[in-house]
This record gives sequence, structure tokens and C-alpha cells, in this order.
Amino acid sequence: MTTDNRSTLFSPLTLSTPDGTGLTLRNRTILSPMCQYAVNRQDGVATDWHLQHYGAIAAGGFGMLTIESTGVNPVGRISPYDLGMYSDEQESAHRHLVSFIHSQGAAAAVQLNHAGGRASGKPWLPGIHGGSAPLEEGGWQTVGMTDQSIAEGYRPTTKLDKAGIAQIVSDFAVAARRADAAGYDAIQIHAAHGYLLHQAFSPLINTRTDEYGGSFENRSRLICEVVDAIRAVWPGSKPLGIRISATDWVKGGLDIETTARLMRELVKHHGINWVDVSSGGLVNTPLQPSGPGFHAVLGAQMKQALADTDAVVSVVGGISSPEQAETMLRTHQVDAVSIGRAAMRNPHWPAMAAARLGVPREDIPAAAQYWRAEWNS
Ligand SMILES: Cc1cc2nc3c(=O)[nH]c(=O)nc-3n(C[C@H](O)[C@H](O)[C@H](O)COP(=O)(O)O)c2cc1C
Repeated sequence: MTTDNRSTLFSPLTLSTPDGTGLTLRNRTILSPMCQYAVNRQDGVATDWHLQHYGAIAAGGFGMLTIESTGVNPVGRISPYDLGMYSDEQESAHRHLVSFIHSQGAAAAVQLNHAGGRASGKPWLPGIHGGSAPLEEGGWQTVGMTDQSIAEGYRPTTKLDKAGIAQIVSDFAVAARRADAAGYDAIQIHAAHGYLLHQAFSPLINTRTDEYGGSFENRSRLICEVVDAIRAVWPGSKPLGIRISATDWVKGGLDIETTARLMRELVKHHGINWVDVSSGGLVNTPLQPSGPGFHAVLGAQMKQALADTDAVVSVVGGISSPEQAETMLRTHQVDAVSIGRAAMRNPHWPAMAAARLGVPREDIPAAAQYWRAEWNS
């Protein structure tokens, strides 16, 4: 609870859990997952880059960090330079990362993903974004819901049969077990931005005629199976989250009514505790918005759709003004804000924002070592 003269952004937030214990974050700032393409040996193992990057952000005062898209198997990685969660070496590097994040007072979530037809991509680094990485540069044959290419420059996928789909569902569960062993407090399932689960849910891409295509129920099936498989192994004391593209911004694609319907189903019947609202990423469209708080309305619509549940709703997109974030929370549009690029520009965004919002010096969530930084200056 907060009173009028205290910041809501810097009040604690509890994510509910099936066993009722809950996970309490020190504040309502969440690092949005952002691929670093910093795995040197193409082996999915976190490097010094990840430690310094996430380490600075944890020291900067975030309530929770969501670690970037992490492949549940090698074929599901977005690029050859992505993190994985399918080997002992990867698990142990994650444990090291989580341990440092915890030492700074932040919680740690990991975004588990299978990129489907957008896997094996070129890393989005200066001058080289776009399309499939060639086999000689570490690329691989991808799998998907159809045998089509997902977008210009991407190789056609091998269409998944039922056994292939079941294997991926099982890979999500095995990765969740490893995430638990690595010490993660939460998982965020990546069902947004045009990757496999989004490819399955959106009628724009999923043209299957079996039980994984066609009706709302059939297109939701893969997401529900993944959620159920993870919930079966993920501790009841830990929250389970999902990131969703609330709309495809294209007629005939996903819209907020359809995605809110699925989120209600997942929260009420499948053990989802946290919904992170994004949009688009499946097909190119000029309607994709940008600018300050560009998903705020979608976040508020999702929050309303889930108002009779105890799910936490966060929203991402163009949030960099502490005052805007504070207003979004104070007016109950959402429960938390996900911050992406602003955290790359300034890993200490929460400490800076807290000072600007008038949080007393002793409550500014800065690392002890930075206590004398004069955050108000
Ligand atoms: C470098 C970079 C990498 C990203 N990688 C991911 C990712 O791994 N998973 C994801 O869901 N979104 C990813 N995104 C999208 C961000 O999480 C976020 O949704 C987007 O940047 C909009 O939020 P912002 O305006 O706060 O940056 C990435 C964005 C950037 C800039």
C-alpha cells in the first residue's frame, strides 16, 4: 500500500504464486528482456559481457531483471549468439549470473523461447541485422508451424509434426527445471514478437488444419501445452509469466480481445501469474507504434481484462520518463513497468528515477557502493 505522497513505482509488488507465498519485488521496475548476442563460442553459455551488463542493471535498482530470450534447445535460439538453457555448462553460467543479481537485491526472471522460423537469425548488431544466418556462419535449418518462410530473408522452415511439437513442449519443461536449479525466481514464456508460440497463435501465419491450427482453441493449444508442461515442474512457490504480443496491428491477425481471452484462460486455469504486454513483431506493418509509453493503452486494456484475477500486468514500450511510469501505476493502468532501451542508456535508471520522484535518500535503490553518488544532483 502507498500513501499519496509516496512513489507507487518504488513501492513493493508481490507476484502471486500457486502456493500462496508470492514473490515480492522491492519496486515495480522490471528489466525488459533484451538479446545481447554476446555468446562468444555459439554454445549458449553466458559470458563476462552478460555478468557486467546484468550486474550493472541489478546494482542500478531494478525490482526484477528479465534475462534475454534464452533458447530451450539449440534449434530454438534466435541467433547463434543467444543464451541457451539446455546444457549443464549453460545452467551453471546462469547460476553465477542469478547469484550476482540476488546479491544486489533484485529478483531474476529468465525468458524462455523457441524462435521457430525466426531462429538461426543474424544477430542484430551494427550493419548485420536481418534474415537467416548462413550455415557456414553457424546457422541451421529451422522448424515451424508450416513449411513457409516467416519473413523475407528467412529460410523456409521444416514443418513440425506432432512428435516434433511434443518434443518442443518437453524441452520447455526441461529448461524450466534447469531455470529452477539455476536459482531463477520467475520464468517469462516468450509468446510475442513473431517467435514460435506467436507463430502458432496468430492466424496470419498458422495455416495448419490439424488440432494446432484453425480455431482459437487449436491455435492456443501449443501455448497452453507449454504453460502446463512448465507449471508441472516449476515450483508452486515461484511465479510463472508470459510475454504476449497483444495485437498484430493487421486486419485478420491477433487483436487485444483475442489475446486478452487467452490470458484470462491462462491465468484462471493454467497457473500464469504475470502477463507482460507488448505487440507486433510477426509481420511488418506501418501501424506498429512508437514514442513515449507506446503500449500504455494495450497494457491498461489487458489489466482491465484481468481485473478479477490476481495476475500482475506489466507493459513495455518507450517508457523512459519516471513521471510517466509513476502516473501509469498511480492510475492503476498496470502493476509494473518493463524498461528496455532506457536501461541500456542508463543501467541505474531506477536509482535516478527514484531520486527524481522524491524518494527519500535512504530508500533510493542504489548499490551501497554508490551511496555517495548524489542521485538528486
Ligand atoms: C537490443 C534489443 C534486444 C531485444 N531482445 C528481446 C528479447 O530477447 N526478448 C523480447 O521479448 N524482446 C526483446 N527486445 C524488445 C524489448 O524487450 C522491448 O520490448 C522493446 O525494446 C520496447 O521497449 P523499450 O522502448 O523500453 O526499449 C529487444 C530489444 C532490443 C532493443
